[in-house]
Amino acid sequence: MYSAIEVIQQRRTLRRFTTANISDDDIQRLLTAAMAAPSLMGRKPWHFVVIRDAEVKKRIAEAFRVHPQLAEAPVWIAFLADVSASPAWRMDLSAAVMNTLLQATAMGLGATWIGTVDSKWTPGQVEACRTLYIPEGWELFAFVAVGKPAEQRPPHVLDPYVFSTRVHEGKWGNRRQVPSPQYHSEGGKQ
Ligand SMILES: Cc1cc2nc3c(=O)[nH]c(=O)nc-3n(C[C@H](O)[C@H](O)[C@H](O)COP(=O)(O)O)c2cc1C
Repeated sequence: MYSAIEVIQQRRTLRRFTTANISDDDIQRLLTAAMAAPSLMGRKPWHFVVIRDAEVKKRIAEAFRVHPQLAEAPVWIAFLADVSASPAWRMDLSAAVMNTLLQATAMGLGATWIGTVDSKWTPGQVEACRTLYIPEGWELFAFVAVGKPAEQRPPHVLDPYVFSTRVHEGKWGNRRQVPSPQYHSEGGKQ
């Protein structure tokens, strides 16, 4: 059982995957985490498309010009928004993506957030929406590519300089004391 800070600091963007598949049970857990995210007024404006088809993943990866090895992830999950359901759909969808990434980390899976720009009219968006049969009125917000990782990256640690320049105490410009080193890499403990 990992603590929250362990999962948060160990989460890294992983783009290389083994050929091992991801079970439907694993997908259920990832989607359950996604749908546990907070959303404005609890409107949950999200829909998901689970993609396993190699040809579809390849086509979208090429359209989005992402790292080619991301197409090798056994599963991509498309995060879609019903834009009429909430004016805060971008924030709601971000929270759902983040929950998914953290759940993947807790399960020992590797994952990458594949972002989209705000306009749905980029060539990548158009191609992906056509490929996935996304109806009018829905925004393709992001994909998460997920699989068993074939690479490791070190956990996040707190950067004392960043902390000292970004955190203000009570009012802008009042520096907050940098936490003692024991807090810098709590989540990196094995
Ligand atoms: C909104 C957003 C969009 C992203 N889009 C992509 C992407 O299209 N391709 C990719 O390889 N990584 C993508 N990333 C992952 C970032 O490159 C990664 O989070 C960043 O390099 C920091 O690394 P870390 O996630 O390991 O902390 C995206 C991340 C965010 C938050």
